[in-house]
Amino acid sequence: LPLHKVIMVGSGGVGKSALTLQYMYGDFVEEYDPTKADSYRKKVLLDGQECLIDILDTAGQEEYAAVSFYYFLSNFYHIILWTDIKLSLIIIRDNYYRSGEGFLCVFSICERESFAHTQDFRDQILRVLDDESIPFILVGNKADLAQKRRVSTEEAIARAREWQCTYYETSAKTRQNVDEVYNDLMRKIKIR
Ligand code: GTP
Ligand code: MG
Repeated sequence: LPLHKVIMVGSGGVGKSALTLQYMYGDFVEEYDPTKADSYRKKVLLDGQECLIDILDTAGQEEYAAVSFYYFLSNFYHIILWTDIKLSLIIIRDNYYRSGEGFLCVFSICERESFAHTQDFRDQILRVLDDESIPFILVGNKADLAQKRRVSTEEAIARAREWQCTYYETSAKTRQNVDEVYNDLMRKIKIR
């Protein structure tokens, strides 16, 4: 079966895991349990064709990325020297990115800082993959929390236009546009 590799990026707490779990299992997780790094695989029907989707759900909070890096290394080494954790993190993140065929870049419409951070994720991805046409979707999550909105739809659309990518507003809680973002990204990967 054709396999499509998708990577979730974005700041901590924006809903990368909640979107992934809603898509995978149709469940909404209320608790916030910061991710280290998790991967998921599912057989899906895309436009009448069976395929596999691999989702890599990354850590938005660097401390957790550090823990996952530690576990990763401790499989191979008994003694670890913490000389430059920051550099190590960059290396492992770049390796994650290299394995991706498409990216969902998530922010929370309730948090301006997470919207600002999407620029950093975009820059990092383009630096590593050096390919402006990499399948990439900007996702404004928590659309159900309209009364707490801090990022306007217009602003997000303007950024998507600048990046020449698609913008969706989603809710992992109500499942608004959840299937759509994954399906759209898989289509973009497939036609490349
Ligand atoms: P890291 O793993 O630390 O990078 O965070 P994350 O991006 O995976 O965030 P996570 O999915 O764990 O969600 C953080 C919190 O926001 C949780 O309490 C979720 O229940 C909540 N949440 C996520 N998506 C939504 C949404 O669409 N609507 C609402 N109301 N809450 C959401
Ligand atoms: Mg998470």
